[in-house]
Amino acid sequence: MDCISSLLVGLAQALCESMNMAERRAGHKTDLKQAISDLETATGELKAIRDDLNLRIQRDNLEGRSCTNRVREWLSAVQAAEVRTESILGRFMRREQRKRARRRCLSCLGCAEYKLSKKVLGTLKSINDLRQRSEDIETDGGSIQETSMEIPIKSVVGNTTMMERVWELLSKEEEERGIIGIYGPGGVGKTTLMQSINNELITKGHQYDVLIWVTMSREFGECTIQQAVGARLGLSWDEKETGEGRAFKIYRALKQRRFLLLLDDVWEEIDLDKTGVPRPDRENKCKVMFTTRSMALCSKMGAECKLRVDFLEKQYAWELFCGKLGRRDLLESPLIRRHAETIVTKCGGLPLALITLGGAMAHRETEEEWIHASEVLNRFPAEMKGMDYVFALLKFSYDNLESDLLRTCFLYCALFPEDHSIEIEQLVEYWVGEGFLISSHGVNTIYQGYFLVGDLKAACLLETGDEKTQVKMHNVVRSFALWMASEQGTYKELILVEPSMD
Ligand SMILES: Nc1ncnc2c1ncn2[C@@H]1O[C@H](COP(=O)(O)OP(=O)(O)OP(=O)(O)O)[C@@H](O)[C@H]1O
Ligand SMILES: [Mg+2]
Repeated sequence: MDCISSLLVGLAQALCESMNMAERRAGHKTDLKQAISDLETATGELKAIRDDLNLRIQRDNLEGRSCTNRVREWLSAVQAAEVRTESILGRFMRREQRKRARRRCLSCLGCAEYKLSKKVLGTLKSINDLRQRSEDIETDGGSIQETSMEIPIKSVVGNTTMMERVWELLSKEEEERGIIGIYGPGGVGKTTLMQSINNELITKGHQYDVLIWVTMSREFGECTIQQAVGARLGLSWDEKETGEGRAFKIYRALKQRRFLLLLDDVWEEIDLDKTGVPRPDRENKCKVMFTTRSMALCSKMGAECKLRVDFLEKQYAWELFCGKLGRRDLLESPLIRRHAETIVTKCGGLPLALITLGGAMAHRETEEEWIHASEVLNRFPAEMKGMDYVFALLKFSYDNLESDLLRTCFLYCALFPEDHSIEIEQLVEYWVGEGFLISSHGVNTIYQGYFLVGDLKAACLLETGDEKTQVKMHNVVRSFALWMASEQGTYKELILVEPSMD
């Protein structure tokens, strides 16, 4: 009887437990369904907040503001929460389907549902946290990029007049010319001038909303501009963004702003429309200023004003050389001073050559060293320390000439003595006599010669001579031409032209 009664008690207990479990399961079931529904609602709200924030970020981007790291971190946390929600909802749906299809062990179901509910509650909590954090998030903490940047430059001599002219073009309200081309030979100081202007605008103040400096690359003109403008304005795009897409963003960001775009070292014609940079006009009062070695390129780029940077006057050339030399005491020796003056004259006011040679001579303390330097500079200038660099820079202009004929005609000009003004008419006759210019289809070779002279002048490889009817070759350019003619120094001993008449 004891045995039966204990069996009955056991059965009753088991029945009770199973009823309790069933009750708990039923409770979980309703809790889980409710939690899933809460999760869906909360995720929907979070997505709406995220989409609103993204719209604000896009608008800020166009205005040149970038989003903060805090915003980025929040957005990625939202993304992670979304992924978690998707996975939970997927699991829940699959479970519901399976439950409908076949009955499963009640305790297995209860256990899995319990786990799922825990996950749902955890995700719900983090979503609620994210919703709360969104209230403190500002999109514009990245602030607009600085409107301008000063460029460190060494002391500049003798460009006051040019600075004044450019200053007027850029700062006078009534000045309407929007595209300004600054041209001149390699190493004459075009970049330096534009850097000085950039800095002066910053220190003295200006009326532009933004100054944008772009150092151009020779091959990827438009692309370089887009990158630099994008970086300056804090615009963002991914690698796959097309040129047109970038142009569209740049246009939207710049069209409301008064900008000054400074393009340094342009070699190829640039289509501003392709970059998205709005064309400067009377209404927007924006300006584009660029430097180039080619006067012809100024015209191609539609420059309404072309300014040539000229060689330094004697006194400034001397100042620049001595400044770079840094040893005024050396010049107390009359002989060293005489040779220093000869060297400066040889540089013909070309700043690049002046600072190169000033630097090369800075530690030469004996008269003998100065005599040697003068001799080398006279005979084989490429062998002077640093002159290979000067010639390498000039070679870009030579290589950029349109044809071999033009290159041959250029080299020919080095046959004339240093500082010699050459009658164009005579030069062209020589070219015809040499057989460079051959008449074909009735084209007059003399006029063709004048055309080529024009090309060489536009490339800043020939200068106007003492008279308008004459041209001359700058000393350093002539040394470069002789170096090119000797196959870059390989046949220097075979040169029959005296480098100078000294
Ligand atoms: N007026 C100046 N005063 C002092 N230094 C100068 C001046 N002009 C140019 N320089 C110096 O001469 C060198 C060449 O100048 P810069 O680079 O401005 O020439 P560039 O005309 O831009 O040449 P490129 O055609 O090769 O671009 C630089 O080291 C620069 O610091
Ligand atoms: Mg330059």
